[in-house]
Amino acid sequence: MNHEQVEKNIWLMVPLIILAISFGSLVELVPLFFSEEVTEPIEGLEPLPAVALEGRDIYIREGCNNCHSQMIRPLRSETERYGHYSVAGELVYNHPFLWGSKRTGPDLARVGGRYSDDWHRLHLTDPRLLVPESNMPAFPFLFQKELDGEDTAAKMIALRRVGVPYTEEDIEGAAEAVAGVKEGDALIVYLQQLGLLIQTRR
Ligand code: HEC
Repeated sequence: MNHEQVEKNIWLMVPLIILAISFGSLVELVPLFFSEEVTEPIEGLEPLPAVALEGRDIYIREGCNNCHSQMIRPLRSETERYGHYSVAGELVYNHPFLWGSKRTGPDLARVGGRYSDDWHRLHLTDPRLLVPESNMPAFPFLFQKELDGEDTAAKMIALRRVGVPYTEEDIEGAAEAVAGVKEGDALIVYLQQLGLLIQTRR
């Protein structure tokens, strides 16, 4: 069969295109399922503690991930600004992942420890107090409502099913750890641990 025949016959070309793309994708993807580098947690990685886990859910609920990525690419311009590039092994417990690509604001993959808790509290209450030109929305209401922790254990059990190694102890203590914490404070606990395991910047 020569090339011209394939190019002139759409019914031949379509299946061949599908075959070529499927084969190409499989060759790219399948080895990753078996590579330890991308499936195994890096040393020191722990599941998020109860309060940080609730903070993460608030991050998703408020749509922070619509403006902030959590994925530092291995390019000089990124690593100079944000720190060590993201590696798969530090993200294996992320369900759903929050890598994103839309950056209205800066990447937050390694924002942990960059600012004080008080800085975050002020910034979330009104970003313009600290960064006059900011167009980030204000979230003052996060410091009014308290969490009750009723669902935290159930969330941990669900995450355990997809491979996050929460212990019985984590699950039993979850409600107590979370009850009474302000939503905004849980969010800050979450932000402050982001990316701490690999630090080259500070
Ligand atoms: C409409 C887009 C938008 C949304 C939604 C948004 N941000 Fe931002 N964020 C920005 C912009 C722009 C900046 C840079 C200016 C500033 O620091 O305020 C920023 C800055 C930040 C910074 C400082 C990062 C740094 O390295 O200096 C943090 C932390 C942050 N945002 C957290 C959050 C959290 C948490 C939420 C959700 C509650 C959120 N943002 C929602 C746009 C957004």
